[in-house]
Amino acid sequence: MNTYDTVMKLALERGFYFPSCEIYGDAHAGFWEYGPTGTNMKNKFIELWRRELLRRDDMIEIDGSQIMSKSVFIASGHLDNFTDPVIKCKNCGATFRADKYIAEKSGKEIPELLSGNEIDKIVEEYNLRCPTCKGTFLESSRFNMMFKVEIGPSKEEAYLRPETCQSIFVDFPRIFKTMRGRLPLAVAQVGKSFRNEIAPRQSLLRLREFYQAEIEVFCNPNRLNDLSKFEQVKDTSLKLFIKNSYHTICAEDAVREGYLPNKLVAYYLSLLTLFYSKTGIIMERTRFRQLSDEEKAFYASTAFDFEVETSVGWLELVACNYRSDYDLKKHSMISKQNLNVIDPSDNAKVLPHLFELSMGIDRSIYSILEHSYYEDIEAKRVVLRLVPPIAPILIGVLPLVTKDGLREKAQDIYSKLKLDYSTFYDESGSIGRRYRRLEEIGAPFALTIDNQTMKDDTVTIRYRDTMLQERVKVSEVSNFLDEIVELK
Ligand code: GLY
Repeated sequence: MNTYDTVMKLALERGFYFPSCEIYGDAHAGFWEYGPTGTNMKNKFIELWRRELLRRDDMIEIDGSQIMSKSVFIASGHLDNFTDPVIKCKNCGATFRADKYIAEKSGKEIPELLSGNEIDKIVEEYNLRCPTCKGTFLESSRFNMMFKVEIGPSKEEAYLRPETCQSIFVDFPRIFKTMRGRLPLAVAQVGKSFRNEIAPRQSLLRLREFYQAEIEVFCNPNRLNDLSKFEQVKDTSLKLFIKNSYHTICAEDAVREGYLPNKLVAYYLSLLTLFYSKTGIIMERTRFRQLSDEEKAFYASTAFDFEVETSVGWLELVACNYRSDYDLKKHSMISKQNLNVIDPSDNAKVLPHLFELSMGIDRSIYSILEHSYYEDIEAKRVVLRLVPPIAPILIGVLPLVTKDGLREKAQDIYSKLKLDYSTFYDESGSIGRRYRRLEEIGAPFALTIDNQTMKDDTVTIRYRDTMLQERVKVSEVSNFLDEIVELK
């Protein structure tokens, strides 16, 4: 079994994630649920994102609507431009995402923005046929990925947001005013976005309904190098992949040498690097890849993807886009609202530019699982070596046996710990089997109650990775866990 399938099997068996509506035959592809274990892990990942990015950088967070009005997406350009190329079989009507299909069949690298003419030429040149019925293809077209919805009995047209950031843009004047904003101002949002993908695949990796955690930095384009907090991160090592060459370089030098356009971009790429290095992702297998003009989203003027190497190739986890004044200019034009603000640094009115860190949570979760997966051949066990802040369960509470008061003592300890830590109680099966279950969901610690506990109020704490155990007083368990979680 390949690594992707192995992680998938574990995810299904241990309640990380599974297909949506799976008991029905008409369930649609591209919709997945997080089970109890996965939900805990996702929530903890988001908490770490809040801690290491939002709180660290004094960002503010909002929680906007998932359904937004048509005008928003006329202004944003999504109704015109948010499309993928498709080819449709003349004979059976089967439809394929053109760039992916012809890349697979021709072995050529195909950029998403290739024109229809160029796609048709390649289809002809390679004599590509429908894989289902061998029919020929109609001329290629473009498919808009927005999900349309109808509001109220008059069925007014509206859309599910394809990116969470649109509410940040349209809420900007109110947020700036009520929060007494000052540029640069970073506004964050975590939530669901929706894209009607032509070919959703590989569970969490290409979904139609997915979680994003986005940060939009409103900035003065004349002051992108005027950032005193850059000093705090200037030595952060960044791995840049630009025009097929790697440059591992500190943030300060990356700006000086012109690999990164300014300090503001370098600052946020550094924060992102520091964040991911605390998630358990193997940082040697990550990079910031600069996108070519053909690959960039229609609103981006400069773009770096934070990518991670997995068994299914390099995955984009975070799109880091310099969106310039594209968004606020268009929203200002269509809404006829003035979105300029005063920047007291030069006492002038400015229409802020935007730099964003647009994170895919689901792909991050998959990548962390894959990078943490470990088969300990010697001890015949599977271990998810999740870091404590991300682990769905921090500690398991296990009475060695259920007699002689051990069950009651264990339940008493559990009932206290569970209020402050993600704790799991398990008394069924052999102790070895119970350790294995905890290891497979990545619980870093197991606390065992044994006969000695009844004599001196101590328990053993077992470390998941080394399998070593130490004895601690019951009254010390919370301190022990606090220290571990704080250490990260
Ligand atoms: N907001 C950028 C994206 O969704 O990719």
